[in-house]
Amino acid sequence: MDTEWADADRLAGLRDDLVVTGDRASISVEAPYTGDELAEIPAGTEADIEAAVERVETAQEAWAERPVEERTAVLDRYADRVLDAQADVLDLAQLEAGKSRRDAFEEVLDVAATADHYATVADDLLASEGRRGVLPGLTKATVHRHPKGVVGIISPWNYPVTLAISDALPALAAGNGVVLKPAEQTTHVALLARRLLVDAGLPPELFQVVSGEGERVGAALVDHVDYVAFTGSTRAGREVAAAAGRNLVDCSLELGGKNPLLVLDDADPEKAARGAARACYANAGQLCISTERLYVHDDIYDEFRDAFVAAARDLRLGGGFSYGPEVGSLQNEAQLRKTVEHVEDAVEKGADVLAGGRERPDLGPYFYEPTVLEGVTPEMTAFDEETFGPVASLYRVDSTEAAIERANDSEYGLNASVWTSDPERGAAVGQRIDCGTVNVNEGYAAAWASIDAPMGGMGDSGVGRRHGDEGLLRFTEAQTVAVQRGLRIDPGPLPQALWAKAMSGGLRLLGRLPGWAR
Ligand code: NAI
Ligand code: MG
Repeated sequence: MDTEWADADRLAGLRDDLVVTGDRASISVEAPYTGDELAEIPAGTEADIEAAVERVETAQEAWAERPVEERTAVLDRYADRVLDAQADVLDLAQLEAGKSRRDAFEEVLDVAATADHYATVADDLLASEGRRGVLPGLTKATVHRHPKGVVGIISPWNYPVTLAISDALPALAAGNGVVLKPAEQTTHVALLARRLLVDAGLPPELFQVVSGEGERVGAALVDHVDYVAFTGSTRAGREVAAAAGRNLVDCSLELGGKNPLLVLDDADPEKAARGAARACYANAGQLCISTERLYVHDDIYDEFRDAFVAAARDLRLGGGFSYGPEVGSLQNEAQLRKTVEHVEDAVEKGADVLAGGRERPDLGPYFYEPTVLEGVTPEMTAFDEETFGPVASLYRVDSTEAAIERANDSEYGLNASVWTSDPERGAAVGQRIDCGTVNVNEGYAAAWASIDAPMGGMGDSGVGRRHGDEGLLRFTEAQTVAVQRGLRIDPGPLPQALWAKAMSGGLRLLGRLPGWAR
């Protein structure tokens, strides 16, 4: 294979950074482009998690004492480090995830931009802040932001750099340490991305990685940390949330989606079709925020359909460590099987395949063509279940109202896209869609890459938000210290009834005064 990372010794060098305590089984991981075994990774244990958390705890105390500017300086340098080392990161992300180079590059850009963003805003977000005290002038209330301690991150294989690192960055800026459990399949590229953080000046002890299976080592992680940031399936997310609940630790969960795209009657069908193709087939559809349902206004349905089918067929499918192919492989056999089953089930029940619908074993074991379905009905799996593959269903609607209604008819609520020639109209429609992010005249990148704004899911798509102020503040404990001067908040020598009367009157008066005693 065409990358220096396909080398047992080089990969073993990365695994030196894993926390491994004693003997254990190993897990075979493969290169999706060929299906060949790439390496064996240690199947982590609860003892590994305990050792990792212990190391991080010690380092975290010193880290939290460091001035915020010293912590954010690491993020600042990391952004450059990742951009400088991009060839390595891209190669390894492609090798382990089977994705196209263009899709891998989105990850490099994303972590660099996230590092830059939190390097810029962390200082302000973490500054202690005066709040309105109970008695004007007499109560001084101040909010302090303390780190949670050890943050556990559990990440999936589809965006193995972004989803392993981009939550760690604000967690570290806020003074936490991190224990990461990456997806089995993409452990090495997560280790590389973490090593670049150490190159950028992060104390190595502060960020530990344990490899292995979700049910075992992921679940153990949730039992030993002070906060959990999880990205993955809704099924696993529920288990993580239940365990976090038992432990009374907070968590954020970014889960699945069945994301809608609306083409309004005034959209340019050509432009909308090209945008929709990217929205559906980026990362071969293995993207939590990618589109699987398209609601197209009757007036332009035929034009849009023809342009969309042409755009889907035009996409260059293939492997290789260059910028040629636009769409890569599915990551694993289970993803391919699920994709095949969804399409076969739809076809058996009467849907039409307008483009794709075929495996491509000539390219590699898990390649599947970008696929367009029409005539999908509620009996079919592809109607409302997440495929997480390159399969999109077209639906004709006769009004914007109908499109919004159909878009909202889902258990999920992650991301949506609206296409129109009137951006204000698009934005207004967007507010009526029950999704955490909505993009107007873009598929997903506009909202995702607006890192200053929160990102996450409604409904079964998740809990909490990454990005934005929330994306950092979730990794802190808010603490209020209130200092009372002069008058105390009790009746003192006053008769109780008089105190009650004075307080009631005072409260009525204060209610009419805007913004006092800040
Ligand atoms: P998964 O949810 O099982 O895996 C994601 C991560 O969670 C991995 O690191 C895994 O080891 C860990 N994990 C699994 N079970 C766990 C548990 N009980 N406790 C703690 N950690 C656990 O996802 P999988 O099996 O790789 O993919 C299955 C489906 O999930 C996909 O077909 C897709 O529909 C969805 N998915 C959604 C993603 C998203 O970005 N929202 C990412 C990956 C998968
Ligand atoms: Mg998808």
